[in-house]
Amino acid sequence: MDVFRIQGPVQLKGHIQVNGSKNAALPIMAACLLAPGKSTIQGVPDLSDITVLKDLLGELGCPVTTLQDRSVQIDATNITRPVGDYEIVRRMRASICILGPLLARCGKVEVSMPGGCAIGDRPINIHVSGLEQLGAKFHLENGNVVADAPKGGLKGAEIFLGGPFGSTVLGTANVLMAATLARGITVIESAACEPEITDLAHCLNKMGAKISGIGSPRLTIEGVSTLTPVTHRVIPDRIEAGTFMIGAAITRGELALTNCHMGDLMAVVHKLRSLGVTIESSDEGCCVAMDRHVAATDVTTHPFPGFPTDLQAQFMALLALAEGNSVVIEKVFPDRFMHVAELNRMAANLRKEGPCVIVAGVKKLIAAPVMASDLRASAALVLAAMAAHGTSVINRVYHIDRGYERIEEKLNPVGANIVREKA
Ligand code: EPZ
Repeated sequence: MDVFRIQGPVQLKGHIQVNGSKNAALPIMAACLLAPGKSTIQGVPDLSDITVLKDLLGELGCPVTTLQDRSVQIDATNITRPVGDYEIVRRMRASICILGPLLARCGKVEVSMPGGCAIGDRPINIHVSGLEQLGAKFHLENGNVVADAPKGGLKGAEIFLGGPFGSTVLGTANVLMAATLARGITVIESAACEPEITDLAHCLNKMGAKISGIGSPRLTIEGVSTLTPVTHRVIPDRIEAGTFMIGAAITRGELALTNCHMGDLMAVVHKLRSLGVTIESSDEGCCVAMDRHVAATDVTTHPFPGFPTDLQAQFMALLALAEGNSVVIEKVFPDRFMHVAELNRMAANLRKEGPCVIVAGVKKLIAAPVMASDLRASAALVLAAMAAHGTSVINRVYHIDRGYERIEEKLNPVGANIVREKA
């Protein structure tokens, strides 16, 4: 297992090109199952989560070819086995996004029930409820979710997809993808509005689907009989972009980011500016600079367009160095605080109180050996280590590789000092 050895403090200065979005690429690659033939998805980042989905699609009988320039070609001509095995699904919970397309295309699907993960339980009850309202029948068999569509196929319905934590991103993706081939009209109320869902809907419409209300909490889908293969470029990764913005702020540096949609990061830009960070939009992206002490602030995570839960850990690392006390409230995954104990090992002063953390700002962080636990918590540790005094060691770097493409190769050219070593 690799470790990162990180020297700090450093100051990030320079330009970073942001990758395509992991969380757009995953459901869009799954959507290719809906159309017999070869689809090409462009701008797909080279990440272990993407590799898992490529393996899974191959197991379904849909070989994936990696082309030049981060494009992948998915041949969904024949789906020989609509079954997502535990051995693959357990490696990535988001594999559940094959549920909707396989049910719609094949009329039957079997997917291993995703387990929990470090950020909390990952139930799929809302996915199941939405698909049942399209006519699917579900049962559990040896830990696998098994679903069958009615003889005549799925039928459109009016579906409410809200849950105790608001909307569900992949739940919306599954029901949306299934509804494109359902007979009649489907209305999804309380749909997720994340940019990744908007990108998925645009891709589906390019395949011949008839989706309206895109970007709003109410999606209307007029079912069609077939969809056709597509060539589609995924949107930039707003979470990777936000992570690097926070990297500029925590090291009091200056970064120019290209290939990032500022409109997808308004809540984050608003919060960073309130801390004293300078952020200027440019045609290709933005410039982020910080030359003063971080001001304290409170932040609460919400579904889009609220502050994203996927940047909560990274933002907390920044607030750990603020002047004064901040409060971080996690409303999407209330247990998503695996980074708190590790940041405290670096001399942060964080106190967890239920679904919130009191952050008492400190003057400096001190390097330490720490443990990565989940994708975004690990990114927070990298940011903290770049600002901390001394040499930090981050163990279990594979968590970072799930969502950041060789992050050290992006950060070292702009001033970081990160060495990847075999543990
Ligand atoms: C997506 O996960 C993202 N993953 C997550 O990013 C992100 O944190 C999350 O959305 C929220 O924005 C991908 O897109 C691959 P949810 P998803 O269903 O769809 C509850 C990362 O770091 N819920 O929107 O699985 C659930 O427990 C990853 O890139 C139910 O109760 O998240 C959670 O509390 C981590 N029942 C809340 O809803 C359900 O049936 C939001 O979860 C489904 C969800």
